[in-house]
Amino acid sequence: MPHSDQIHASWEQNAAAWTTAVREGLIASRRAGTDAAIVDACRPHATGSVLDVGCGEGWLARALGAAGGSVTGIDASAPLIDTARAAGGARYEVAGYADLVANPHRLSGPWGLIVANFALLDEEQVPLLRALGERLAPTGRLLVQTVHPWVAAGDGAYQDGWRTETFAAFPVPFPAQMPWYFRTLARWLRDIDQAGLRLCRLEEPAHPETGRPLSLLLALKRGEEGAPRSGPQP
Ligand SMILES: C[S@@+](CC[C@H](N)C(=O)[O-])C[C@H]1O[C@@H](n2cnc3c(N)ncnc32)[C@H](O)[C@@H]1O
Repeated sequence: MPHSDQIHASWEQNAAAWTTAVREGLIASRRAGTDAAIVDACRPHATGSVLDVGCGEGWLARALGAAGGSVTGIDASAPLIDTARAAGGARYEVAGYADLVANPHRLSGPWGLIVANFALLDEEQVPLLRALGERLAPTGRLLVQTVHPWVAAGDGAYQDGWRTETFAAFPVPFPAQMPWYFRTLARWLRDIDQAGLRLCRLEEPAHPETGRPLSLLLALKRGEEGAPRSGPQP
């Protein structure tokens, strides 16, 4: 089965376990700072229209809705969207990224803020990033929070490639493993450039006790129309 289908299948099968883990605060890195980091980064841009890409059970969509945003959450997992809808606080739609790239009108917009919190898991992400950038308002921001490449590499090679999340470290059993694509920082910067986006800010929220990075947080905006892309420099 292609990786993208495996990712989709895992989020259908893991929907209940994931919802428990998120809603009962069972994910240590989220408690330690990544939830607060993404909410803080979103807040200045979240007063108008907000799109939460890969919203899962909807915690961030609800938080941004409560902060005054008009929020739409999208996710390919129908059971997670059902769970999000039941909790309310935003509009929710079942949609896969490939479908949004093929039918960009489904992305509607323009959006003042688009956010993807730990939701970009596939190898090919440039077409999605480009499609999202094209639906941003001129002053809008695309915020991406993802695993920190240095921490995620651990003792393994610092090299782009597929990894497997077993969810073994979670205190609730997850029925399915999930493939995900590990990206170095250089690859992130290349993907951003190829998508016609510009990096406005890069943050590395750190664990308050250990000082180790908890995540990589990227604030992106649309590239200038017609401006030359940075490309490789000597
Ligand atoms: C780790 S969860 C994060 C959920 C949520 N953003 C949060 O912070 O709790 C990843 C989410 O991305 C969604 N996702 C992954 N690949 C997707 C795709 N190709 N199309 C739509 N949703 C996708 C999954 O269904 C899942 O809900």
